Amino acid sequence: MLVRAVGAVAIMGHRGTISGVMSEPILSETRGQVGVVRLNRPEALNALSLELMKQLVATLESFDDDPAIHVIVLAGSEKVWAAGADIKDMAEASAFEMYERNQFARWERIRRIRKPIIAAVSGYALGGGCELAMHCDIIIASETAKFGQPEINIGVMPGAGGTQRLTRAIGKFRAMEMVLNGRFISAREAAEFGLVSRVVPKEHYLSAALELAEEMSKRPPLALKLAKEAVLKAHETTLSEGLEYERKLFYMLFATEDQKEGMRAFVEKRKPEYKGR
Ligand code: CAA
Repeated sequence: MLVRAVGAVAIMGHRGTISGVMSEPILSETRGQVGVVRLNRPEALNALSLELMKQLVATLESFDDDPAIHVIVLAGSEKVWAAGADIKDMAEASAFEMYERNQFARWERIRRIRKPIIAAVSGYALGGGCELAMHCDIIIASETAKFGQPEINIGVMPGAGGTQRLTRAIGKFRAMEMVLNGRFISAREAAEFGLVSRVVPKEHYLSAALELAEEMSKRPPLALKLAKEAVLKAHETTLSEGLEYERKLFYMLFATEDQKEGMRAFVEKRKPEYKGR
């Protein structure tokens, strides 16, 4: 059994099964080299309470630090991914209290996770829920998934990167309709617009993500991390700086045993055995 201490709470997981104390907002387990994290507040449609976010970040960071884990899958339930930040947590908060909470510092920590994160999204992904999916690297969506930034309906606007990441993913004009008028888009539209990687039948939303994660976990782990870093750089920099950056990471991989193993295995017509070095 694997016991992960998350803040003041212990999250327990077994290989091969999802487990944990029912009231914990985050459940986690390991499956081979894949770390699986699940949002678990069904009574509030997985609204991202402060406690949930605290545990989520701690769990993601503990998987990121664990050399036995190569890829992370983040899922909600089949019914809902997440209906956003917890409105009840912040309805009566003052601007000063919101500032002091510094909740977006936690989101920054998710941005810093170096291992690939696959989001398995089914049902609503709204507000902070949509933003959380966009913090991941690959989004597998069930055909029931619905994406939206409806903050405008409750007197605010996206605060965890929605105006930036959504615009980069689907373009200004579609993003404007979602952000300014709270329009929800279906999984099919999200795929057509470039917001999700792939749409699958709802009963496969998790298994498709786990299968992909398992395949990816067989890849050389250092190359996985550096390749993720290089793709993310494309959002942050000019083309020529991005190309320079990519080239440096590419050369860096020639310092790894896994590069030698991968290329030798190809030449020798055998399967590579990567060591993460
Ligand atoms: N925060 C807190 N509680 C929430 C919630 C949220 N974001 N979303 C749903 N819930 C709770 C409801 O209050 C309700 O609880 P009770 O039974 O105790 O009343 C329970 O979850 C079920 O919700 P509904 O009865 O509303 O379910 P529905 O099927 O009728 O509607 C929904 C589903 C359309 C998703 C609707 O719940 C909804 O609009 N939720 C809010 C979506 C939203 O505005 N998200 C943005 C939040 S702000 C944000 O995320 C800021 C940011 O950028 C960080």
